[in-house]
Amino acid sequence: MKPIIAANWKMNLTKSDASNLIGHINHAMNDIANIELILGPSHCYLDLAATHLKRGVIAAQNIAEFSGGAYTGEISAQMAKSCGAKYALLGHSERRHVFHETNEMIQKKLVLCNDNGLIPILCVGETLEQRNSGQLKTVINDQLDVLKNSAQVYFVAYEPVWAIGTGETATPELAEEVHAHIRSVVGDGVPILYGGSVNASNIKGLLSMPNIDGALIGGASLKSDEFSDILKISAALERKKS
Ligand code: 13P
Repeated sequence: MKPIIAANWKMNLTKSDASNLIGHINHAMNDIANIELILGPSHCYLDLAATHLKRGVIAAQNIAEFSGGAYTGEISAQMAKSCGAKYALLGHSERRHVFHETNEMIQKKLVLCNDNGLIPILCVGETLEQRNSGQLKTVINDQLDVLKNSAQVYFVAYEPVWAIGTGETATPELAEEVHAHIRSVVGDGVPILYGGSVNASNIKGLLSMPNIDGALIGGASLKSDEFSDILKISAALERKKS
């Protein structure tokens, strides 16, 4: 399997910044063969990214839990798909913690992804408090439970809440321990990405772990040089494996 590098731009960049960054990514990808690139721009740049990204696919950062109608400010799975998205991030920790998304809401979104031909990337992860009080596996299992009967094809992203945007990455061994647990629940065919302060210095160690199939990258995906380095390092790793 090629390493999967997914960028989550979150609520960043103007339209011209987004356009420039896509240009840099296209340039970096010219020399790279062995990467599955997924780009998650803000909803208002989905169309732009789908049109201009040359080698890669597009993810929506979220979709509504409703199929359509009078829900001001929301965007449906069908709308994201029609703007070029192939994937949708679901249950990102910022959605869970800032916007109070529950597993029930996420389950509805999973069904809508399946119904509309979007591949969900289900984000799971524990807070530091949950980890320190021994609840790690219970939390992850509860978050994975939404997949039962609601998703056929999906990815999982393990993003420990304490590692997101903090500069504190899980060590490869610590991440691998949780990935191996997730693997035991979801099985072999499901790609499992790691996210949380991934950068050009730690990507190699993380991707070297047997159950880490790729990375979901926030802050470092906004920096053109660093993101290009991440793509190059990841591609070189794959070549070594094959
Ligand atoms: P950072 O890479 O900025 O820690 O963000 C990770 C993340 O939330 C990706 O979805």
